Amino acid sequence: MERKIKLFSSKQGRLIEYTVPAEHGMVVLDAVIYVLEHFDSSISARWNCKAGRCGSCGAEINGMPRLMCKTRLDSIDGDIEVAPMKVFPNVKDLVVDPADTWRIKKSMSNFKIDEKFTQKKKGIAATKDIVLHEYDVTRAQEFKKCIECFLCLDSCHVLRVHKSAYIGPMHVVKAASLDMNPLDSLDRRQFLDRNGIRLCNVTKCCTDVCPVKIKITDNAIIPEKERINDKKII
Ligand code: SF4
Ligand code: SF4
Ligand code: FES
Repeated sequence: MERKIKLFSSKQGRLIEYTVPAEHGMVVLDAVIYVLEHFDSSISARWNCKAGRCGSCGAEINGMPRLMCKTRLDSIDGDIEVAPMKVFPNVKDLVVDPADTWRIKKSMSNFKIDEKFTQKKKGIAATKDIVLHEYDVTRAQEFKKCIECFLCLDSCHVLRVHKSAYIGPMHVVKAASLDMNPLDSLDRRQFLDRNGIRLCNVTKCCTDVCPVKIKITDNAIIPEKERINDKKII
């Protein structure tokens, strides 16, 4: 059996069609690699693990942000169209430039342990024995699943329209993972407020595309918005 796959070419500014052999279990990334090996080795695309773990193979597949390595050909009816994520500047073909995303990540305060949880043992700082609630651990584990694939950022209509006015769901997940850690001492509400979280109108498109099933809107964005409104931010 054969399938038609169209890949975006930045040189030609349009989708180029190829025909690839389709075997049971093949994913879109297999088809892209086949095109690279048999038709055009100059096509640029990113991938590493081919297992849904590294987050590097995100693209728009028939208009939906998805991982190429986790999207089976037989889950798509008709032709397959693969384009770069539109919310980022295009570098070449399917490769985008996420530099702003890393800048935002760097600008957020990182974890800082609350001093009441520390003690000195023989002059060396150590963490006290503490009891964590199961729900705190469960939530921390949920947010830690993020593979930084950027699919949620690409799905967000606020980012597509307002660009830099909102940092986007992936960063709210990161902020929530720190803010909801009972050992952390910092407050990131002003950071989120300054960076447009109020523009999010909780459409849940980000949650729908998350490949690791983080409940981005319900568990990260809505609680952070509520925290911002709980106390007046000066
Ligand atoms: S819920 Fe908010 S962050 Fe998620 S896609 Fe919608 S507007 Fe964007
Ligand atoms: S929250 Fe989900 S969709 Fe967003 S970057 Fe992390 S893994 Fe990807
Ligand atoms: S290649 Fe690593 S997530 Fe797809």
